[in-house]
Amino acid sequence: MIRVGINGYGTIGKRVADAVRAQPDMEVVGVAKTRPNFEAQSAVEKGFDLYAAIEDRKPQFGEAGIELAGDVEELVEASDIVVDACPSGIGADNAEMYREYDTPALLQGGEDSDVVGASFNARSNYDAVEGVDLVRVVSCNTTGLSRLIAPLQEAYGIEKVRATLVRRGGDPTQSDRGPINDILPDPVGLPSHHGPDVNTIYPDLDIDTLGLKVPATLMHMHSVNVSLESEPTAEKVRTLLEGERRMFVIPEWLGVDGSGAIKELAQDADRPRADIWENCIWGESISMEGNDLYLFQAIHQESDVVPENVDAIRAVLGEADQEESITTTDEAMGLDVPLTQMR
Ligand SMILES: NC(=O)c1ccc[n+]([C@@H]2O[C@H](COP(=O)([O-])OP(=O)(O)OC[C@H]3O[C@@H](n4cnc5c(N)ncnc54)[C@H](OP(=O)(O)O)[C@@H]3O)[C@@H](O)[C@H]2O)c1
Repeated sequence: MIRVGINGYGTIGKRVADAVRAQPDMEVVGVAKTRPNFEAQSAVEKGFDLYAAIEDRKPQFGEAGIELAGDVEELVEASDIVVDACPSGIGADNAEMYREYDTPALLQGGEDSDVVGASFNARSNYDAVEGVDLVRVVSCNTTGLSRLIAPLQEAYGIEKVRATLVRRGGDPTQSDRGPINDILPDPVGLPSHHGPDVNTIYPDLDIDTLGLKVPATLMHMHSVNVSLESEPTAEKVRTLLEGERRMFVIPEWLGVDGSGAIKELAQDADRPRADIWENCIWGESISMEGNDLYLFQAIHQESDVVPENVDAIRAVLGEADQEESITTTDEAMGLDVPLTQMR
């Protein structure tokens, strides 16, 4: 069994902990938090050993009646690999601790790419990270774009990608984020950071991205144009994407008109936390004009990187090849069950 520690038990960390626990070849050593709160309580309720991330705050856990298993350093030492899901920037600060204990670690998309040895997306560059000590699982948006680029690149070749990312203002719990009544070009200048981030996975890809922020919390929406090197029909592209894992091509008859309906679908399907691990592409939006492909896809920011973290664990440790890992991850999480079916 691969022993996995989770440092940072928030939006991403708690989902990764559940996904790791579901794997047949992995166990969760424990999770680290800085303070007792409802997430600390639920970690304990779920039977995860809880470790203190900040020494000075340890007494707060005792006062709240929450038992600690130890300090984060002990968690790191006892783990074969750590998934760091701390807020942006803290993962980079933690890198020294992972080096000190000779424990490989995965950082998340909020960290700068130059902090790590490699960036990762399971569909695109699984084999590139074996043996790399510090790896970054790219952000939710970059994951969504990379998953789409991979099959198009292989099947048709890509001249250029242009994508406009309409981004949720914050996650549902982030009441301090916004805008609450505005539409913000973010950034105003070209490119948004997403294009260069995709280039950490596809260094030679010609890609321009623009970003906006809107008053929404449910999902991101991408308006994508890919100039291909050949001219397949829209039907052929649709069939290709329908055959991809971690991609849900929404049929017209479902009547799913936006991210609200996708979230409802995930709730009806009894997905944990109503998570949508797949890219959701509107089938009828897949269009070809000459060699230009157009489509809309929705990305669930809180969960699409979760299966990617699980695969990155095996990829870094050299425990399985790409096909084997993705299959195992998807079956264990229930990602192989289509969004239209109950789990
Ligand atoms: N949410 C998204 O949409 C999303 C999507 C893809 C990637 N990411 C990336 O994933 C990373 C984590 O994001 P998130 O959304 O999960 O953040 P989050 O919800 O704020 O969770 C991070 C957790 O880390 C804990 N923490 C803070 N300082 C810590 C420390 N020094 N040691 C250990 N734990 C600490 C915090 O909990 P306590 O202080 O209560 O312990 C917090 O709950 C970021 O790099 C982010 O960019 C986020």
